[in-house]
Amino acid sequence: MTSPSEFVRIWDLPTRVFHIVLGLCVLGLFVTGELGDALMPLHYWLGYAVLSLVFFRIVWGLLGGHWSRFVNFVPSPKQVFHYVRSMRRGEHHPNVGHNPLGGLSVLTMLCLLLLQVASGFLTDDEISLAGPWAAWAPPSWVELATRYHTEIGRVLLIVLIVLHVSSVVYYRIVKHNDLISPMLHGDKQLPAQTQHSRDTFTSRLFALSIWIACSFVVYRLVLLGS
Ligand code: HEM
Ligand code: HEM
Repeated sequence: MTSPSEFVRIWDLPTRVFHIVLGLCVLGLFVTGELGDALMPLHYWLGYAVLSLVFFRIVWGLLGGHWSRFVNFVPSPKQVFHYVRSMRRGEHHPNVGHNPLGGLSVLTMLCLLLLQVASGFLTDDEISLAGPWAAWAPPSWVELATRYHTEIGRVLLIVLIVLHVSSVVYYRIVKHNDLISPMLHGDKQLPAQTQHSRDTFTSRLFALSIWIACSFVVYRLVLLGS
């Protein structure tokens, strides 16, 4: 007999808001980065916002709702290997939160975003544009960071985002597994006894205060350069 299913909260509101705002900021960063000079102040602000969001997500990965916690989605190499092997065999292993490949891509995304922002802090186009730390960092660092920011990091991010979006579309169309709707409304239809993520008024307020604290840390980091 199969156990009865019900809608279970998997992605708490802070995780979902984080995802939407992060996606919009990153999109804005690519547009303002490519359009150049006049939009650069906005580029910097969006970059600082991304940093505050990544800091928030790191803290939320420790204190957030059950399925947003790192312990519940960061896979071991063995789990990734078994997952890929079972996918190649066409086996279907439903996952409640991120599957092992999804977990790996979340971590990679957070690391690449951190690197992109850190390199932005040190970037200098030697004409009019410079990140807040470029003036006092050793020239060799600035050169390396500028090359990373404008050539390597942005390409890595584009590749990862294209992979990210195409894999959720692949899961939707080929595997008939809709990962997108739960990222929007938070719930998945699962056996009733599945562990749910805490998503109450208090936990949302807690998340907001964490994000405010993270924004303050970013503000202090930016000021370090002046
Ligand atoms: C610049 C654009 C984007 C970035 C930077 C981005 C980043 C991320 C990150 C960091 C997560 C992990 C969420 C968490 O646990 O906190 C995630 C998950 C997810 N994203 Fe995106 N995302 C982007 C665009 C999109 C788009 C356009 C879609 C929809 C087509 C999408 C669908 C999803 C889904 C469904 C998940 C959950 C995957 C799962 O269930 O394992 N993302 N994304
Ligand atoms: C995730 C965050 C970020 C992304 C995705 C991003 C992306 C980009 C892109 C695509 C360009 C255009 C590169 C080119 O066409 O040459 C650019 C340029 C630039 N970015 Fe960012 N950026 C981010 C964060 C930052 C931050 C936080 C700062 C500084 C505080 C910054 C400072 C700059 C500067 C000064 C340039 C001009 C470099 C030049 O023209 O040589 N960026 N960025």
